[in-house]
Amino acid sequence: MNVLVLHGPNLNLLGEREPEIYGTLTLAEIDAQIEARAKELGITVRTYQSNHEGRLVDRLHALRKWLDGLVINPAAFTYSSYALRDAIAAVAKPAIEVHLSDIKRREPWRAHSLIEPVCAAQISGLGVDSYLQALARLAELLAASPLSSRAEPR
Ligand code: DQA
Repeated sequence: MNVLVLHGPNLNLLGEREPEIYGTLTLAEIDAQIEARAKELGITVRTYQSNHEGRLVDRLHALRKWLDGLVINPAAFTYSSYALRDAIAAVAKPAIEVHLSDIKRREPWRAHSLIEPVCAAQISGLGVDSYLQALARLAELLAASPLSSRAEPR
């Protein structure tokens, strides 16, 4: 089971960026936890961060045949990117949107995600656990899907 994890803009500054909101873990530390949990779940994971919308779209396109599922923290592109939304819909694999902070309990403009409608779930407000729970949820979803290429042959 192959999962791509995409991190959007400004997440490269985690650790120093507004730690009272996003915590003190760096992106490298978060990626290490993602890789460890993926291994436990039998998932092969690739992670990628960019501050550029088109690069995130390009990475999703490039890995579209490889990936069985997607975990994405679109960061501020959550509120602006029809391109990312359309790319996720085009790739047509199960996707889970994640946020470190609870976007429903911050400024009102953060509550409405353009990405949520093309995702199977949104997990928000759990810090790094948002990513880890998303991996577990994807593993369940993919195992349950009769169309999944990863399902055990009958
Ligand atoms: C974020 C929440 C967004 O509102 C914000 O723009 C981010 C990070 C989060 O992980 O909590 O950059 O996606």
